[in-house]
Amino acid sequence: MNTEDIKKLKTAGKKIVAITAYDWATASLCRDAGPDIVLVGDSLSMVALGYDTTLPVTMDEMVHHAKAVVRAGLAALIVADMPFMSFNVSAESAVYNAGRFIKEAGVKAVKIEGGIGLSPVVRLLVERGIPVMGHIGLTPQDILVMGGYKVQAKTPEKIELLIKDAKALEEAGAFSVVLECVPAEVGKLLSDSIGIPVIGIGAGPFCDGQIMVFSDLTGLYEKKKAKFVKVYADAGTVIKDAVRKYADEVRNGDFPDKEHSY
Ligand code: KIV
Repeated sequence: MNTEDIKKLKTAGKKIVAITAYDWATASLCRDAGPDIVLVGDSLSMVALGYDTTLPVTMDEMVHHAKAVVRAGLAALIVADMPFMSFNVSAESAVYNAGRFIKEAGVKAVKIEGGIGLSPVVRLLVERGIPVMGHIGLTPQDILVMGGYKVQAKTPEKIELLIKDAKALEEAGAFSVVLECVPAEVGKLLSDSIGIPVIGIGAGPFCDGQIMVFSDLTGLYEKKKAKFVKVYADAGTVIKDAVRKYADEVRNGDFPDKEHSY
């Protein structure tokens, strides 16, 4: 998949399937479902590295994990999330950091949190040959100023601003936009307002596509879950049971048995 293929899915009225992955193993587990987009999200910070927010994860850590996702060789468009402070300190560092994802990790696009204020950065990256996915609505990198993970765009004024953000990103050359945590009717309004795909997460069923965090939908992240998270499989419980059985069998001498010995 490339960014043009993703845009064509919207034109064809086909829903876009996106999911996050963090390494070779999680990306490989996504292969059979044939996602259109795999995002190496900065949620890595929380679901794989154990931080409380997405703020601490570094460029080096993101590049390291993006490389592992790319090694899984999926047909999906692999997008890497630009971490906190990697794209909004200076234009030069934004280009340099985005370029690292392309050159070192081999991803095909980057994602940036922010709306109209970030559109000059989006334009610059696209001009330098780096495809960009926007991210508006709830932007977790703004947690300190937002004061919590809350539903966004609940008033006509805020909805108006959000539409301006989306249009500015489209105009700057973004190939798609993630829309997080807004009422379902706002998801519809945004998807109808711009020509590029709107990929929702907690933005209702009318978006052009959906994205979910791998560790949420597989039950591997046990901390507090947002209302929009659907746990499709409780792999966390299955794995914990397996490790408990292994520990029990080692302690009582049942493992390794004849079958598992030379
Ligand atoms: O980091 C992430 O996983 C994301 C998705 C929630 C869109 O940004």
